[in-house]
Amino acid sequence: MLSPDYDNEEHATGVQWSSVKIVELRDWTEAVTTEIQERARNCSACQLTKKYSVSEEGQEIAYLAIDWWPLHQRTDLVLYELFVPDKFRHRGIGARILAEVEELAAAAGYHRVVLTARPLEDYPKKKLREWYKQHGFKRLSQGEPDAMAKLVASQ
Ligand SMILES: CC(C)(COP(=O)(O)OP(=O)(O)OC[C@H]1O[C@@H](n2cnc3c(N)ncnc32)[C@H](O)[C@@H]1OP(=O)(O)O)[C@@H](O)C(=O)NCCC(=O)NCCS
Repeated sequence: MLSPDYDNEEHATGVQWSSVKIVELRDWTEAVTTEIQERARNCSACQLTKKYSVSEEGQEIAYLAIDWWPLHQRTDLVLYELFVPDKFRHRGIGARILAEVEELAAAAGYHRVVLTARPLEDYPKKKLREWYKQHGFKRLSQGEPDAMAKLVASQ
């Protein structure tokens, strides 16, 4: 299972995801495509961030970065970055990855998935917020202005 110590094992969650692999990138050069390499290279990660390449049927389809706060310090799993290259967008990949992250967060004992809805590209922030809202995320009244969260486990 994807976790702070995740080490390249295949991760399968159901039929649609049967061929999906989420592999930790120890360095941006380990990504396959230039788009994901670029994203991983430009992602200003903190010490707690782990970066992942997501591929399906041998094709790299997304980039994911997660901040793994130790559970005793914070029960939020921080989805730091999610990126689907342009040519793979609008097919539900982003939504499926969100669901996957939520499942993983709950399984690992986190209470919420939190994120900052800040577009990485020239895309209206309001529309990105709307997208996260459609997937059950709510704006937080505290913290960063674009912070959003979704409960993944009963507290
Ligand atoms: C946001 C993102 C991950 C969605 O990926 P996806 O695989 O296209 O997601 P889905 O197919 O599940 O949903 C598509 C919806 O995403 C929304 N969306 C959010 N950001 C978008 C973007 N930059 N470009 C296009 N659509 C975007 C639209 O509402 C779109 O709906 P539509 O298909 O009716 O136009 C992808 O657009 C992306 O990587 N954007 C650039 C990186 C970014 O800004 N990431 C979020 C901040 S961390």
